[in-house]
Amino acid sequence: MNKVTKIIATSVVFGLLPFATVQASPDEDLKALQGFFEKKFPDVKDGDFINGVYAIDEKSREQWEEMEEMPPYELAVDEGKELWAKKFGNGKTYADCFKQDLADIRVAYPYHDEDKDDIMTLEGAINSCRKDNDEKPLKWKKGKLAKLSAYIAFEGRGKKIDVKVETDKAKAWYEEGKTFFYAKRGQLNMACADCHVYYSGNMIRGDLLSPTLGHTSHFPVYRSKWGSLGTLHRRYGGCNKQVRAKPFKAQSRQYKALEYFEAYMSNGLELNGPGSRK
Ligand code: HEC
Repeated sequence: MNKVTKIIATSVVFGLLPFATVQASPDEDLKALQGFFEKKFPDVKDGDFINGVYAIDEKSREQWEEMEEMPPYELAVDEGKELWAKKFGNGKTYADCFKQDLADIRVAYPYHDEDKDDIMTLEGAINSCRKDNDEKPLKWKKGKLAKLSAYIAFEGRGKKIDVKVETDKAKAWYEEGKTFFYAKRGQLNMACADCHVYYSGNMIRGDLLSPTLGHTSHFPVYRSKWGSLGTLHRRYGGCNKQVRAKPFKAQSRQYKALEYFEAYMSNGLELNGPGSRK
């Protein structure tokens, strides 16, 4: 049996879905998942889950720390800063759309907009700002939008993730994201949770699997494999393709719900975007 089939076989045999089957509140889910990872990775220091695989693998951490000394996203942050300051055709700028100080923007997303009954992501807010100012929307997964997101993330580093699920409508979005996270999909019939909860810390096709905790803290990410900066939804698409499932569109309902769930699961952790990964 190769690794993938072995993982599938084991998860079928043991019916490993303890978090998915219980109807729990978001807060109970959070405590259960954080507790699970604390037990699974007792050596990971408080708050270090934001560093993905580098929190659980000392060898690759050293290389990554070297890379972070001259971070590959540095130029993108500078470009994002220029884009941020550039005036729209009507003379306004992005800053006119956001009510927070620059350093408080990143931490305000994602959130549930009760009136629109929608999840507002940072990228979504940037493009709706453009729309409100009669500018064309930017492409969702990379390029200018990712650079703006990187600049805002950089300025918002150090704040603690604090996603709220307060109303019934918000809870419905949360449940949708949670269901997506635990649902098996694709030809390989694997859930996000298979790779990023139960098998986190194991290798799959030469890659170590990261825990879901902290997954949203550091995006957008410069990936060596991409050779560029990409948004969280770009990564989601890649992970869906890995199990030979059809990816959803960036900023689709499915990925917004998924981001909302994953970000909630990272509550209490520090924002450290943009990041760099293999
Ligand atoms: C077949 C296993 C597999 C499945 C299923 C899978 N992923 Fe991944 N994912 C990976 C691998 C391998 C990586 C790269 C190593 C790492 O960071 O975990 C990765 C990376 C990621 C990252 C980036 C982590 C970081 O530190 O930057 C995110 C976010 C992510 N996956 C989310 C998801 C979500 C959400 C799903 C469900 C839609 C999912 N993945 C399904 C294998 C998987």
